[in-house]
Amino acid sequence: MEDFLHRMRNDHHNFDKGVLSDHVGNNPLAFFRTWYKEAFDSTQAEPHAMSIATVSADGKPSSRIVYLKELSEEGFVFYTNYHSQKGKDLDQNPAICALFFWNVLERQVRIEGVAHKIDEATSDAYFASRPRESQLGAWASHQSDLLENRESLQSRLEALSEKYPNEVPRPPHWGGYFIVPESIEFWQGRPSRLHDRIVFEKQNDSWTVFRKNP
Ligand SMILES: Cc1cc2nc3c(=O)[nH]c(=O)nc-3n(C[C@H](O)[C@H](O)[C@H](O)COP(=O)(O)O)c2cc1C
Repeated sequence: MEDFLHRMRNDHHNFDKGVLSDHVGNNPLAFFRTWYKEAFDSTQAEPHAMSIATVSADGKPSSRIVYLKELSEEGFVFYTNYHSQKGKDLDQNPAICALFFWNVLERQVRIEGVAHKIDEATSDAYFASRPRESQLGAWASHQSDLLENRESLQSRLEALSEKYPNEVPRPPHWGGYFIVPESIEFWQGRPSRLHDRIVFEKQNDSWTVFRKNP
């Protein structure tokens, strides 16, 4: 197995899919939107899946995949349970790192910044747009808590379905986080490990842009 891993080498030859030029503009969110659209237009599976890393009160990092649900001029929104591990982490320390990997395009984007809860009306609107099963699931799952067995989850779900025969209200502990980026790095695979890395960093409310060694 280890031998197999050592032999896995992937040289990056996607010249046609984009070499990062020095002319990426001065707005990383606009540039992100261009790459995001290209990922959606490609055969990339789940281009909206991103890994988010948070840090616990005692300094322990953890990461997990969530879906990007909104992209605005200012940042990135995902939805989750505010009582989950990530929610507890963010209560203590709003620092967050989000990572996209679009292997089909040989691209990676790293976003570092802080996350804060979005306003309740926006969470309400998004929650209302979800299928009933997902809405009930958001109530039934005490995300990241110990679960004794699968049956208890199922019986909670059935009880909730009876409790809310029609409209399902949004649980107060479920909603969105808005990631305000402080730095965004765009990585494009290139041959011989000489990849492109272009970093935008926010300084005094404006973006500076520079290259890093691969
Ligand atoms: C493809 C994929 C998409 C996911 N999307 C979400 C999401 O949007 N929100 C969420 O809370 N969890 C999502 N999850 C589950 C999380 O990865 C994670 O298991 C859960 O949020 C609990 O994380 P925590 O205990 O670290 O807080 C997704 C998992 C996968 C594999």
